Amino acid sequence: MLIDKYGRKINYMRISVTQRCNFRCLYCMPKIPFDWVPKENLLTFEEMFLFVKVAIDEGISKIRITGGEPLLRKDLDVFISMIHNYKKDIDLAITTNGYFLKDYAKDLKKAGLKRINVSLDTLDPKKAKMISQKEVLSNVLAGIEEAINLGFKVKINTVALKNLNDNELISLLEYAKSLNIQIRFIEFMENYHAYGKLQGLKSNEILEILKQKYKIISSRKAQNSPVTLYEINDYTFGIIDPHSHEFCDTCNRIRLSADGLLIPCLYYDESLSIKEAVKRKDLKAAVEILKEVLRNKPEKNKWSIVDNETSSRAFYQTGG
Ligand code: GTP
Ligand code: 5AD
Ligand code: SF4
Repeated sequence: MLIDKYGRKINYMRISVTQRCNFRCLYCMPKIPFDWVPKENLLTFEEMFLFVKVAIDEGISKIRITGGEPLLRKDLDVFISMIHNYKKDIDLAITTNGYFLKDYAKDLKKAGLKRINVSLDTLDPKKAKMISQKEVLSNVLAGIEEAINLGFKVKINTVALKNLNDNELISLLEYAKSLNIQIRFIEFMENYHAYGKLQGLKSNEILEILKQKYKIISSRKAQNSPVTLYEINDYTFGIIDPHSHEFCDTCNRIRLSADGLLIPCLYYDESLSIKEAVKRKDLKAAVEILKEVLRNKPEKNKWSIVDNETSSRAFYQTGG
């Protein structure tokens, strides 16, 4: 079991398999980043898998594949099946922009993937183009529907943005409700890479909008997750509200980047690399690095210490 020095049980690893993305979302990478990791610096899937196996042996039971856009990385389904075949009961998931999902969903299912979170910020094709700077909506919707038809557990992630999708929160909720899947509205997390003029809606503002149509019956903080769940008549939706809520005390996660950095916290610049250790196949050293990272996992992210400090680390590097 992996326990950090504040007594938190770490059982969730997020693996960013690529920084690259075919979208340019305003809140993430509005311009082509100047700091792409060169291909030769990426860990191969074989190298990542060596680390995944020791991490599972040490106590990781939930793995989420992220990006950039994870479906851009060739042979992702092979990597997923390697993990699935190593331990069948891992909670194995991806977070994707959905653009290629319709084409890849069957292979992902065969590989053993269980859950898919898809980013969907609007149901208006023109706004989708404005936010992601690409003609994307029909592909994303087709991807969501294909994934549901294949039996995946699907969730929708919506970053709530002032003057962009604030007039659509109810329709987005109703879209998700009609498909019987959960939607989570996410507070925009400021970072240096995002488009500078963007303004996010805070949790109370999101709720004000939804309350115009729905009565909130109850709310509860999900365990080991940054989401707060709200119940309306016959549906439950979520809000991920880092500005309004402290969830660091129950944080259960670490992140691995595409170039082998083991990152203890989303809003914390320090990290250690496992790259050399896995390239030498030195798994003892890799476990030591994992334990060292946990020894240094901060109690709180810098954001909650310095009010609303902007993170220098891009979401496309950490996978959010
Ligand atoms: P589930 O396993 O379905 O609960 O997914 P998840 O919420 O863990 O993952 P997902 O990739 O869908 O992330 C949804 C949002 O939560 C994204 O905007 C992430 O950046 C954000 N998020 C995930 N982990 C953290 C965290 O530790 N801190 C903060 N502030 N945000 C996080
Ligand atoms: N603030 C909040 N959420 C973000 N995401 C990407 N960038 C940001 C940001 N700046 C979300 C994406 C995706 C998930 C991985 O993180 O919409 O659903
Ligand atoms: Fe790509 Fe996701 Fe970033 Fe949008 S938020 S640019 S889809 S990595």
